[in-house]
Amino acid sequence: MGALGADAAGFIACPAPAKINLFLHVTGRRSDGYHTLQTAFLMLDHGDVLHFRVRADGAIHRVNDVPGVPPEQDLVIRAALLLKEKTGCSRGADIRVDKRLPMGGGLGGGSSDAATTLLALNKLWQLEVPRQTLQDWAVSLGADVPFFVFGRTALAEGIGETLVPLHVPTSWYVVVEPPVAVPTPEIFRDKGLTRDTEAVIISASPVGGELQADVQEWFQRHTRNDLQPVACRLYPEVQKALDALVPFGFSGAGPRMSGSGACVFLPCSSRAQAEKVVEELKTEWRVWCAPSIELHPLHAWASDQAA
Ligand code: C5P
Repeated sequence: MGALGADAAGFIACPAPAKINLFLHVTGRRSDGYHTLQTAFLMLDHGDVLHFRVRADGAIHRVNDVPGVPPEQDLVIRAALLLKEKTGCSRGADIRVDKRLPMGGGLGGGSSDAATTLLALNKLWQLEVPRQTLQDWAVSLGADVPFFVFGRTALAEGIGETLVPLHVPTSWYVVVEPPVAVPTPEIFRDKGLTRDTEAVIISASPVGGELQADVQEWFQRHTRNDLQPVACRLYPEVQKALDALVPFGFSGAGPRMSGSGACVFLPCSSRAQAEKVVEELKTEWRVWCAPSIELHPLHAWASDQAA
């Protein structure tokens, strides 16, 4: 069964990590309404956990309730059905979803769950679909899903599906979850959204350099999240969360919103600093910290197949 073991009921636990966008530039708009972007995706060692048990009868069944997500709308179910449809696989699965990531949070919770489902069932159903093919299929589930299938820190273009690896040194991040869910389409269709930001040339950056502070400072100086001003205007809780983090910024690296919000993050110089910020803010905010991870936790397990 590979690296991951089954519990007493036969379920295999598979992590679905959060992502943050170190920056997000909206570079244009396609004729279908989707926006072209340039963004840097980074995974954090914190997220949902999905549990899978193969069924022989072909049914896809979510065994627990997820508040606010009826099974027919759940990207987990949609991902499993997509994989069955594309491959003609006759097997099914019971799936339990332990949600830790907020919905409408900009941390990619639903997208990560969908990608974990594709990776896990590809393995458990022994389909051996190459990762690139899974990525190609994943975009029909959402623009962020291909990144999680790709499974490493990435620079993304297109609507998020054109991915190249990016080396960003591991660091700790504090994440604040404002008490609000931000609907992504509302942010993207806002009249005030800047849609013509020039793509930055990453090869001219110190990404991959030795000093983490330099990298964060470079992102801070040369990039931004174009969705942030819109989300802050429509959802003042997001601005409030950013303001709460400002006093803790270091070396020019301040807080920023992830994706279309609502969550905001602060790069930290050490674990100790991150834990101190959490300690300071935890009475007023839902807040946590985690290190970045270079590879998806399922990367090795889901990769020992045709690539
Ligand atoms: O693909 P996903 O379901 O995450 O996107 C949600 C909505 O966000 C889309 O329907 C679209 O309105 C908007 N969006 C966009 N451009 C992107 C990603 C999302 O306009 N690159």
